[in-house]
Amino acid sequence: AAPAIPLNDGRTMPQVGLGVWQAPAEVTAEVVRAALTVGYRSVDTAAAYRNERGVGEGVRSSGVDREKVFVTTKLWNDDHGYDATLRAFEASLARLGLEEVDLYLIHWPAPTQDRYLDSWRALVRLREEGRARSIGVSNFMIEHLRRIIGETGVAPAVNQIELHPKFQQTDLRAFHAGQGIVTESWSPLGRGRLLADPVVAKVAAKHATTPAQVIIRWHIDLGLIVIPKSVNPDRIAENFDVFDFRLDDEDMAAFARLDDPAGRIGPDPLAFG
Ligand code: A2P
Repeated sequence: AAPAIPLNDGRTMPQVGLGVWQAPAEVTAEVVRAALTVGYRSVDTAAAYRNERGVGEGVRSSGVDREKVFVTTKLWNDDHGYDATLRAFEASLARLGLEEVDLYLIHWPAPTQDRYLDSWRALVRLREEGRARSIGVSNFMIEHLRRIIGETGVAPAVNQIELHPKFQQTDLRAFHAGQGIVTESWSPLGRGRLLADPVVAKVAAKHATTPAQVIIRWHIDLGLIVIPKSVNPDRIAENFDVFDFRLDDEDMAAFARLDDPAGRIGPDPLAFG
């Protein structure tokens, strides 16, 4: 089983989960079921992925008790604002077919809209009501985090950000650590582009594992939550078979040298949404 990472609200979250970004709606239920069957207990979706129904179906048909599965979904950029957030949350719950989610995230700060603070206030209410058991954000930068914490006194439980060996987010991770925010890595494999890297290949050969497994292990050994995406049952199983080895100091140093200030793959949070 994946280790449980403590959150700043007293709950815990599995350290490894399944990401379903770009999982087609019609295969999502099957993919989620496959993951739960090999031991995953956490699934990360979003309203924007248009596959929340499949996630709910997959959880229900897996035979795993709903209370044993940690379900994350996210507020899309079109739904920022206090009332719009509350409505969008209800719509996500209805699509998932759940009474509560384990974690609700603001997907992007969308700072040009300047409404993420109102959205955050709505998430605080949803947590008070117990419908979102934990609340957090995604793609927030230090300035956005400072603002929501300063205005509400509530720090997000997690900030889910682009993070992989070519984009290591060292400054943001240090800020999170100081605020008790858990860092969650999206596109942890660099969307698959890091799998052919020679440094990764060398570390993988040393541990007799695959490139994907050593990259996932790097996230785990840094204390991050990690949600590799795959729609292939063999790769889903491979990505969860990472709990019987760990990287040593030499491996971690080699990975540290892969960091690249220009390594971002996804959108710039200041400009997006
Ligand atoms: P697929 O879904 O066909 O398995 P990230 O999580 O960084 O966004 O990376 C996801 C990409 O990496 C997807 O294209 C996924 O393809 C691929 N991928 C996921 N796991 C593995 C693996 N173990 N080996 C090779 N490719 C993988």
